[in-house]
Amino acid sequence: MNLYEAIFVRKTVRRYKMVPLDQSLLDSILGFAQSMPMLFQDITVNYKLLEHSDFKKYFSGALTTKAPYYFVLYSENKQGYQMNAGYLIQQVSLYMTAKGLGSCYLGMLKPKKNKAEKPKLDYVITLAFGEAEHEIYRSADKAKRLPMDDVAIFKNEVNKNIKAMVQAARLSPSSMNSQPWRLVVYDNRIHIFCKKGIFLSDVLNEVKLIDIGVCLAHLLVTAEELWVDVKTVHLDNISNISFKKNDYVISLKMY
Ligand SMILES: Cc1cc2nc3c(=O)[nH]c(=O)nc-3n(C[C@H](O)[C@H](O)[C@H](O)COP(=O)(O)O)c2cc1C
Repeated sequence: MNLYEAIFVRKTVRRYKMVPLDQSLLDSILGFAQSMPMLFQDITVNYKLLEHSDFKKYFSGALTTKAPYYFVLYSENKQGYQMNAGYLIQQVSLYMTAKGLGSCYLGMLKPKKNKAEKPKLDYVITLAFGEAEHEIYRSADKAKRLPMDDVAIFKNEVNKNIKAMVQAARLSPSSMNSQPWRLVVYDNRIHIFCKKGIFLSDVLNEVKLIDIGVCLAHLLVTAEELWVDVKTVHLDNISNISFKKNDYVISLKMY
């Protein structure tokens, strides 16, 4: 199974066997993560693999999903870093699915502050993972997602590769399954918007940008599978328009 195929069968796994995984498998996960290009240039990230016993050293607060391992992403706090983080970690999650492992995002963790040293990178997001207690695969039609018409508008007839990208985007996981992405498809472009929330909380807004990054992972993994060349572009003419319900985030231009 490759990353593209994993999009259609993955689901969140919340129950794990507390058993160790082969070191070679753990190494391959880190190796895969380290080989991924960033969504935006010039953002430094770092990954840590923690065992359950190490968890309390790094995080405080309730751990809602107990797993044998945690994949933790730290990043430089720069423009676009949450989106970049979501884009990277969703590919790690798909890689785990392809390797037969379960994973679950932990979006509410609080990292402990180490008073002795000031961390160079900010904590962003964690994936709990390991061998699942139950089946890790689910068919795409069983995923609870909004209907296509609610998340994407096709302004004209587009080619089948672009349709496939949008179908994969619709299946993206998101915090509390909120599915904040809205896509406007026109010719060879997909414009990505984020639904405005009813809350003004910064935390929720930051998580929404991670969700948008997760969605970009599905769009770009699909483009790669279908040999479509894509560039991410920020179009000033769209970002200057004020929309009532959505914020413009970014566009993909296909060649
Ligand atoms: C950024 C992000 C944060 C999430 N945080 C949590 C979390 O803290 N706890 C949890 O159990 N699930 C968390 N999830 C998983 C979502 O609830 C789940 O992906 C969504 O309900 C869709 O279900 P599915 O992944 O099985 O398709 C998170 C997902 C994302 C993308």
